[in-house]
Amino acid sequence: MQYNRTGKSGLKLPVISLGLWHNFGGLDNFENQRAMCRRAFDLGITHFDLANNYGPPPGSAETNFGKILASDFAAHRDELIISSKAGYHMWDGPYGEWGSRKYMIASLNQSLKRLGLDYVDIFYSHRFDPETPLEETMGALDFAVRSGKALYAGISNYPAKATKEAAKILKAMGTPCLIHQPRFNMLQQEPLKEGVLKACDDNGIGVICFSPLAQGLLTDRYLNGIPEGSRATVAHFLKPGQITEEVVKRSAALNEIAKGRGQKLSQMALAWVLSHKEVTSALIGASRVSQIEDAVNAIDKLDFTKAELTKINKLIA
Ligand SMILES: NC(=O)c1ccc[n+]([C@@H]2O[C@H](COP(=O)([O-])OP(=O)(O)OC[C@H]3O[C@@H](n4cnc5c(N)ncnc54)[C@H](OP(=O)(O)O)[C@@H]3O)[C@@H](O)[C@H]2O)c1
Repeated sequence: MQYNRTGKSGLKLPVISLGLWHNFGGLDNFENQRAMCRRAFDLGITHFDLANNYGPPPGSAETNFGKILASDFAAHRDELIISSKAGYHMWDGPYGEWGSRKYMIASLNQSLKRLGLDYVDIFYSHRFDPETPLEETMGALDFAVRSGKALYAGISNYPAKATKEAAKILKAMGTPCLIHQPRFNMLQQEPLKEGVLKACDDNGIGVICFSPLAQGLLTDRYLNGIPEGSRATVAHFLKPGQITEEVVKRSAALNEIAKGRGQKLSQMALAWVLSHKEVTSALIGASRVSQIEDAVNAIDKLDFTKAELTKINKLIA
């Protein structure tokens, strides 16, 4: 495993991190979850990413990971970076989502209980709340760190302008913003085009990109149809309607370039994300152990030739 420094902080993260958004909920096979976490750790993946609402049902991914922590990783807590987030809908009423201090701290307390932990390593504001003063949301992150319930503060899905403001507020509070978690992949390049990566770089903030494989579109998963059990058939964040002929044709063309590099498409997609100097880690999802192994093997070839990038850019620009 290769470990990168997170922005200008003292913390290093593995270039491949594992997220528990899908396939770790109450309806998923627990032994498979356990096997994936164990294999990931054995391969050097020290960072596991969660959020209050991961499941389904919401919260169950934290509960399951808490069980795995207790059964398999109890002796390894200090070797792990565990994150959680609050921002999306978690419970009914006016205090169950967005960015108020009331919601953020209540949610963090609930997450710690489900995980069976005294602290998480990174606590994120999961989305920018246009209606709550940013000072209040950042104040909640600062409080989480000062109270010892989190070691570092992070933001996710924040646009560039809010990122710069959040960085300034947190810096003034003495709790620097460690990391930003945007969606970034070959097919979804908004953080690059809209200045989020630059805002992070300018402010010493690390970047961990979620959905680097575009939920499976940047793999060979859908090249020959939509397999039973794939995310497009079981989850509503990727719909079969998104697997259009045009999408498959582009993935097939990218797959040919990856083959020329001696890689799988998924590995080339991870290398592409990691080729951006602002990016600390690629945050993958997985439904089986072999996908985690594929991802870690991407590290064998992270560099691109100019000719490869020209061919790739023609397909994804
Ligand atoms: N901050 C946020 O708002 C936010 C939002 C979304 C995600 N996240 C974080 O980012 C993490 C990753 O997101 P993601 O799951 O969308 O990431 P992703 O890596 O883009 O997609 C993962 C999916 O791709 C497929 N896949 C992975 N490796 C493969 C391989 N080698 N061959 C074929 N298919 C492969 C699997 O789909 P199948 O299930 O079909 O096998 C897997 O579940 C989440 O767990 C979460 O921690 C954060």
